[in-house]
Amino acid sequence: MVTLIEYYKTFLIYTMKKIFLLLIVFFTCFQVSAEDRKTIRVSTDNTDLILKVAPNGRLYQSYLGSKLLNEQDIVSLPSASGGDASANGWEVYAGSGAEDYFEPAVAITHNDGNPCTILRYVSSESKAVDGGTETIIRLRDDQYPVDVTLYYIAYPKEDVIKTWSEISHQEKKPVMLSRYSSTMLYFSAEKYFLTEFSSDWAKEVQMSTQELQFGKKILDTKLGSRAAMFVQPFFELGFDRPANEHQGDVLLGTIGWTGNFRFTFEVDNEGNLRVIPAINPYASYYELAPKDVFKTPEFIFTLSKEGTGKASRNIHAWARNYQLKDGKGDRMTLLNNWENTGFKFDEKVLVELMKEAKHLGVDMFLLDDGWFGKRDDDCSGLGDWFVNEQKLKGGLGTLVQKVKALGMRFGIWFEPEMVSEDSDLYRTHPEWAIQIPGRKPMRGRYQLLLDLSNPDVQDYLYERISDILNSADISYVKWDMNRSISDWYTALLPANRQGELPHRYVLGVYALLERLTSAFPEVLFEGCSGGGGRFDAGMLYYCPQIWCSDDTDAYERTIIQYGTSFFYPISAVGSHVSVVPNHQTGRVTPIETRAVTAMAGSFGYELDLNLLSDEEKESVTKQIQQFKEYGSLIHNGTYYRLSNPLEDAYALWAFVSEDKKEVLVQGMIFRTEANMVRHCVPLRGLDAETVYRTKDGAAYTGDTLMHAGVLLPKSWGDYYPVSMHFISE
Ligand code: GLA
Repeated sequence: MVTLIEYYKTFLIYTMKKIFLLLIVFFTCFQVSAEDRKTIRVSTDNTDLILKVAPNGRLYQSYLGSKLLNEQDIVSLPSASGGDASANGWEVYAGSGAEDYFEPAVAITHNDGNPCTILRYVSSESKAVDGGTETIIRLRDDQYPVDVTLYYIAYPKEDVIKTWSEISHQEKKPVMLSRYSSTMLYFSAEKYFLTEFSSDWAKEVQMSTQELQFGKKILDTKLGSRAAMFVQPFFELGFDRPANEHQGDVLLGTIGWTGNFRFTFEVDNEGNLRVIPAINPYASYYELAPKDVFKTPEFIFTLSKEGTGKASRNIHAWARNYQLKDGKGDRMTLLNNWENTGFKFDEKVLVELMKEAKHLGVDMFLLDDGWFGKRDDDCSGLGDWFVNEQKLKGGLGTLVQKVKALGMRFGIWFEPEMVSEDSDLYRTHPEWAIQIPGRKPMRGRYQLLLDLSNPDVQDYLYERISDILNSADISYVKWDMNRSISDWYTALLPANRQGELPHRYVLGVYALLERLTSAFPEVLFEGCSGGGGRFDAGMLYYCPQIWCSDDTDAYERTIIQYGTSFFYPISAVGSHVSVVPNHQTGRVTPIETRAVTAMAGSFGYELDLNLLSDEEKESVTKQIQQFKEYGSLIHNGTYYRLSNPLEDAYALWAFVSEDKKEVLVQGMIFRTEANMVRHCVPLRGLDAETVYRTKDGAAYTGDTLMHAGVLLPKSWGDYYPVSMHFISE
């Protein structure tokens, strides 16, 4: 029999248990309902990204699309995401090893060997930053002291969102990172059309579109610090149907990383798509020490409901306002000696080139490869950044004085990240080259790479380059990078941390560029990687101009520049007039056509001007005058693609001034036929009421030009140039 005392004891325990449970429920409910209300809105003028903390305390994407009108609806949005811990939940930064079976954003092996990470929302804040609003969201694992901070900067005017994340922890020992994406975005559409921009030497930015099917599609590079041979680090994503220039729902996205990147597109069993822009984890496991922070690259994207034209203009505006150091500036015309002299030159040859360039109106001379060390071909000399006084008697100072006496500026070529085995640098520091001990190194263009993750290498290069830049009045540096990275090994890291080299190499390049561009803020740094192999938003921050391709054939360039224009503003595109027959294709195009193509970029010449006929020289003088007149409109105006050169019989584009008072239409008609139809091409972005006039007095309203269009000229011969200028009174 139960005694009374025992009965009371049981009753008391039972009641206390009940109260305890009730308290837990009360506090949990209270907490959940508080968290449940937590909705984070990242907005531009036309786009909303809405994230929500679910009752389980985790953060889910509940919406990404056109801006929503009613603030009050945002809390109770219907969502395809499920918003819960299920395999198809749209978790904003999904960790590996839990119930999400798709590609994770982050994979961490904790120091006890556990591979699971579940991140819960901790806090968020927003603040105003240059051009927009920054939202910072803190997440933390529920079992381990692992923190992830998500950053979003929304640029309302440009309709661009820039996002990245930071991973850190306070576990006792290092953790191993094997996935570390910048962000994760989800979409729900009937169909997805992915356009990639594949690349190879002299064949950059070739566009192709495919419908995404169930499963994964990966775009990546493993070349180390360039993308030629793989895809460029950007993509276009059309929703429901492929977008065109003026119509369709489309996203343009790019990652700011001059290294191995990977875009993963995964269509799940319910037809939803997750997009994961990231550093490529290929051979790149990363040991993260307690309290160190792993910062992922920035992913920059825009959504447009008006096709790719609008999306590109958003990205251009953003890059010019916030990414390019001189996004609003003008560029000088240039003569580069490479396609003309190659390695064979001396001071006399160069001065002759400059004199003619000056005579025709060119502003700047760039001395390309071959001015340093022992460098008569591409087998030796890289790394010895000392002037070769056999070629340049009296050194750089004397040469630059001559350039200055002509009233021109001077620029110079470097390939800082490389070393030739036949060089004093390699003989002194063979351990600075990236190579695997005991294996024959793989050479690219006969050269090896320097280990840029090594601070001693960075210091050596900083000292050599700044010495040269201080030795004469130099306005411009062309920073080349002519091979891919292989043989990944660094003498600086122990065996278990070799996987960090791909990441640390890129940070080393950035650190060196940061030092140099800060020490020489007036110098324009141009990026190059055997052409456009390194055309990415990370490099663009330091090098606001990038040599677009070693293919200077005017016709093929219109296609390469068409693709490039999807992401990069015109001033960023290095583009020159070169000799005909063209060195890569043998094609002969009129000099006016080559000029029109090169003007849709940072304009210059790369040929022996002395060898031109008088007629051609006259044309060059006119082109340079034209660039001086329109250069500002070209680089600071809004760019409109008016044709698709892959489909149309002509390439056409236009620059419209910010106040819409001026427009320059340029391009080329590919082939001329007898009794040929002349096309009328509608212009874009003008003011309908404004009257625009040509130099010969014809006048049209913007309305007419945008609806009836402009009539292309009657062409004669193939690759016929088009150039029409309109200005309002
Ligand atoms: C690369 C560049 C060229 C030129 C050469 C010099 O190929 O793309 O423009 O600078 O290197 O070696």
